[in-house]
Amino acid sequence: MVVVCPRILPGCRLSQITRLLSTKAASVNGTKVEVLGREYTGDHMTNVTPHLLSHIGRDLHLQPHHPLRHVAQRVTQHMYRQYLSPRGNPLFSVHSQLHPVVTTHQNFDSLLIPKDHVSRKKSDNFYINETHLLRAHTSAHQSELISMGFDNFLVIGDVYRRDDIDASHYPVFHQLEGVRLCTLKELYGTHQNMDAYHLFENGERTEDHQGVHSAEAARRMEAELKGCLLGLATSLFGQDTEVRWVDAYFPFTHPSWELEVQINGEWVELLGCGIMEQEILANAGVQDKIGWAFGLGLERWAMKLYGIPDIRLFWSTDSGFLSQFRFDDPATPVTYKAVSKYNPCINDISFWLPKDQQYESADFYDLVRSVGGSLVEQVNLVDSFTHPKKQLTSHCYRIVYRHMERVLTQEEVNDVHRKIEQEAASSLQVSIRITPIVCRGGREQMTEPMSSQ
Ligand code: PHE
Repeated sequence: MVVVCPRILPGCRLSQITRLLSTKAASVNGTKVEVLGREYTGDHMTNVTPHLLSHIGRDLHLQPHHPLRHVAQRVTQHMYRQYLSPRGNPLFSVHSQLHPVVTTHQNFDSLLIPKDHVSRKKSDNFYINETHLLRAHTSAHQSELISMGFDNFLVIGDVYRRDDIDASHYPVFHQLEGVRLCTLKELYGTHQNMDAYHLFENGERTEDHQGVHSAEAARRMEAELKGCLLGLATSLFGQDTEVRWVDAYFPFTHPSWELEVQINGEWVELLGCGIMEQEILANAGVQDKIGWAFGLGLERWAMKLYGIPDIRLFWSTDSGFLSQFRFDDPATPVTYKAVSKYNPCINDISFWLPKDQQYESADFYDLVRSVGGSLVEQVNLVDSFTHPKKQLTSHCYRIVYRHMERVLTQEEVNDVHRKIEQEAASSLQVSIRITPIVCRGGREQMTEPMSSQ
């Protein structure tokens, strides 16, 4: 949010963006901007485009099995385990469906970002109008949630910044924010003479702490924050990962740090964090607590964790991408394999399972791989039913054929598909149900099973 690179992007005039969007989630039509059921009146600051608005409502971080959701779940689980109430319940609440349109007060003023700060520039943000914008960071919700009485919370959501688009930049990405406020008792435990300890004092602001914080309280908060985040980074990237703390600057924390980890010999910045400016807490009505906060980019973590080479892939609806993350335990280790740029060819195969013999889907998967080799990208069971009279079970599998280096012809796919049918019939004792071979090309999302008669 605060590190700003100068970018030259022409602002969009409202008159240029009057096209009504087909998506229901967000649209711009004349001076009317609608986002997730809320309506705003555009003005000279409006620079959201229909294309940008089309990303709203996709909620990648909430989609089952999406890599961003896996990462968000792992971070959440770490925080849940780390901070438990005396009764054993997680202390942190999770806010992952907050509206992405925030006020300039929320995004900037509440975080003490100066009025003339570069990060407010129209060329760096997506403004709805003079007073509203698409949040540029999840920190925009800190102050409001603190005012509402939350002491330990996570905010997960989509954030928007005008930027060039390349393999590591996209105008929409996802952040996870953590905030924890501590009372004197929480920070020090209970001692006999609590009078000797205090959170606040009237001192000088130094490199290590704010003027209002006692040096000892700031030190304890720093140790707790760094301990928690180091635990998080090593639990995801491995215990042997090289890590380092780098001093940083954010208008809303002091002192501030960035955590970097070494991945394949390269230092990668994983998150920003710090001790919250006491003025933010005071403005939100909190007098007796001291807080820390961190913010991390989910795409960055997922790219490093899974070896995903391009940030644009997260928006893919291609099952070649999504199927690689189709697992329930978010901690499942996976390394992303490049998906071919050629169109897939999709064939289904249905058969009755042998009546008195063991049958395992895994055997069929092995068979498909050995017959189809590198032509097969995916095999999934898409339908299973048992005929009530015959007492026979039928399975339908969808096979996605796709070659990494060339377009497959329908004939060669049909050929392989027939061989798979023959091999399954002879070695697995299944009886193939008549299926006309239809090669369905295209990059649609394959979620609907074929009919099950
Ligand atoms: N909001 C900061 C960013 O987007 C990250 C951050 C969050 C830093 C909380 C400190 C504390 O870069």
